Amino acid sequence: MQNIDKIIDKWNADPDYVIEMMQDIQDELRHTPRNALEQVTKRTKVPLARLYHIAIFYKSFSLEPRGKFEILVCTGTGCYVKGATLILEAFERELNIKTGETTSDGLFTLEEVRCLGCCSLAPVVMINKNIYGNFTTDKIKGILEAIYEVEL
Ligand code: FES
Repeated sequence: MQNIDKIIDKWNADPDYVIEMMQDIQDELRHTPRNALEQVTKRTKVPLARLYHIAIFYKSFSLEPRGKFEILVCTGTGCYVKGATLILEAFERELNIKTGETTSDGLFTLEEVRCLGCCSLAPVVMINKNIYGNFTTDKIKGILEAIYEVEL
């Protein structure tokens, strides 16, 4: 809870900055757990229900722990017409999870997004802010193996 208090202190426990506090908590813990939100409520007096509303409304927050690596597969129109669905399905098979889920080792979360803003590179995958353009399913194994090599 010390880390949470430090984050709240950083924003002077100002109720106008609860979203920023929650974003810092999300970055620190890879999710916004109930006990952290309760602490924000206690210190800022912003009702817990409002914090939950924010956490559910904004896709950048998660009430469940997220993977260390977030794989975002774009299925916007530009990427969809170039086979994004096949890429998403290939990641699901390779990671043995469904879209929206996190692997049991806590390493990967797989998400589908609508346009990453670089349609000229379609189809596009983003992993922890790194963009992979002109993506093909045969790249998946190599990318995952490189990450496993460093992380395991
Ligand atoms: S539609 Fe995929 S990046 Fe725009």
